[in-house]
Amino acid sequence: MATASIIDVQPLTESVGEQEIQERIIAAKEALGDRVMILGHHYQREEVFQHADVAGDSLKLARAAADSKAEYIVFCGVHFMAEVADILSRPEQVAILPDLSAGCSMADMANLANVERAWQELNSVLDAESDVTPVTYINSAADLKAFCASHGGIVCTSTNARHVLSWSFSKKEKILFFPDQHLGRNTGYGMDIPLDEMVVWDFDQPMGGLSVEEIKKAKIILWKGFCSVHQMFKPEHIDSFKQKHPDGVVVSHPEASFEVCQKSDYVGSTEYIIRVIRDAEPNTRFLVGTELNLVNRLHNQFKHQGKNVHFMSPMVCMCSTMFRIDPLQLCHVLESLVAGSVLNQIKVDKREAELACTALQRMLDVSP
Ligand code: 13P
Ligand code: SF4
Repeated sequence: MATASIIDVQPLTESVGEQEIQERIIAAKEALGDRVMILGHHYQREEVFQHADVAGDSLKLARAAADSKAEYIVFCGVHFMAEVADILSRPEQVAILPDLSAGCSMADMANLANVERAWQELNSVLDAESDVTPVTYINSAADLKAFCASHGGIVCTSTNARHVLSWSFSKKEKILFFPDQHLGRNTGYGMDIPLDEMVVWDFDQPMGGLSVEEIKKAKIILWKGFCSVHQMFKPEHIDSFKQKHPDGVVVSHPEASFEVCQKSDYVGSTEYIIRVIRDAEPNTRFLVGTELNLVNRLHNQFKHQGKNVHFMSPMVCMCSTMFRIDPLQLCHVLESLVAGSVLNQIKVDKREAELACTALQRMLDVSP
């Protein structure tokens, strides 16, 4: 019955009002029932986020995808997350990204060609296979996860980076960490690795722009990638907050710079940031260095406890690619499923998926 009523509705166009779109998403979800599971990353805008069956950080959502029994996993996040859902789910399950152009600019800073070149260049100075564990942040394409699996490496998220680095050092003496230099540096420093033993590999330069001595001395070789959102946060934002609110608490995501993380009281994944704010005493004031949609949601969610959650940058900076997923597209993919057609499926090549799964499974095995 519900199926018929959805198929009969007016075609979905830009002119359909916000309220109607919301109602149609709810109706389509109801019609699909257990056949669909919607996963929502914390950075999604509210109008999309409210429809998520499971909301979380990259690790929680990867686990949710692996555990899901649903026929369709609709991922309100970015491309690499939907790839992970496809890789970790069963072959007959279908992963869907409501907007195929929702990528991650940081993930795009490393690709198989420049990582393979780096590996070869490292091999001219070291015995890369015996000396170096490649570690890719989950914010990367599936072929890079496959590359890591083929070379004894592993995937990490911001939640488990420390566990993953410990595992990696138990295998080999050095790590090639891509694509986010900040997560690598912040995690390495927290494990007592001195800054001068973490060098930056500039993928636009021969030998990463490093000397043979620098490579030989390094414990971690950090890819020169970064997140365009988290690079907006500066130590001076923290200084001026602390001047006004000496008792205020600063919480940052580890994709923020070393200087910002050093000045922060707490550093961790989006799920961790939520926990810190949720578990704090009433009336605490926070300065938070992560994406704006999450910060605004936290402010609204906890203001009844007198908690005040400020965004770290004076500029409005959102993850523009996450923002590409809008209610209209979510509605469109759900109604298409009700009508029997799959739109925007993310399907990773079989061989690549098998290898990437090995690197992801290693990560899940060492995760807390
Ligand atoms: P989390 O895993 O902490 O949610 O981070 C994902 C991400 O892309 C942050 O920019
Ligand atoms: Fe990628 Fe940064 Fe957006 Fe996270 S916030 S998805 S790292 S661009």
